[in-house]
Amino acid sequence: MIIMQDDKRIRISNLNELIKSCKKCPLHLNRTNAVVGNGNIDTKIMLIGEAPGRNEDLQGIPFVGSAGKLLDSLLNENNIKRDDVYITNVVKCRPPNNRTPNKEEIDSCLPYLIEEIDIIKPEIILTLGRTAGEAVSLIFDYKWEGLEKERKKPREVMFNGIKIKVFSTYHPAAALYKPELKELLREDIKEANQILKNKHKSLLDFMK
Ligand code: URA
Ligand code: SF4
Repeated sequence: MIIMQDDKRIRISNLNELIKSCKKCPLHLNRTNAVVGNGNIDTKIMLIGEAPGRNEDLQGIPFVGSAGKLLDSLLNENNIKRDDVYITNVVKCRPPNNRTPNKEEIDSCLPYLIEEIDIIKPEIILTLGRTAGEAVSLIFDYKWEGLEKERKKPREVMFNGIKIKVFSTYHPAAALYKPELKELLREDIKEANQILKNKHKSLLDFMK
């Protein structure tokens, strides 16, 4: 067990070194820092955003700007701290003026996200916004049916022998400006957390 955890740590630190010096797509040209995943690598919950923004680029940490603050507060409502989850992005370098990353950039960066999923082995993935939802549908090879539909139907996928439940929800940056989206994001985070809690409660019951 300890060997496996060490293995995880070694793999994530090797991966992060690769990302920090990556020049596979033009986004490396304007970055201050590549933004690697952050949080608990032994977690069961992985959150995936779109791309670093200005604050993230400056600090090299995902979701530290205003969208991140909103995300933190919605997680806190469920007693989830930043250190309880792992947070990363589809692309690791900031697109100029925060534009949506294009297909070439996403394709270049996706192997890093795949490796992160393989290292962390989460039970639940929560994708934030359309870019993340679509990118994850490419990885697990299902047809993306749009955020409205996807958020009502969590996907269950098999990935390298593990079962993962994928929830798609809105991006906290969108929720900052639209109160109705904030409520839906709040509901979705609550539901994902509840499913995880129920599952582990019943597992514990079974082991009694
Ligand atoms: N938006 C994202 O998608 N990711 C971040 O890290 C910050 C803002
Ligand atoms: Fe490399 Fe991804 Fe940064 Fe492009 S966005 S340079 S693929 S780390």
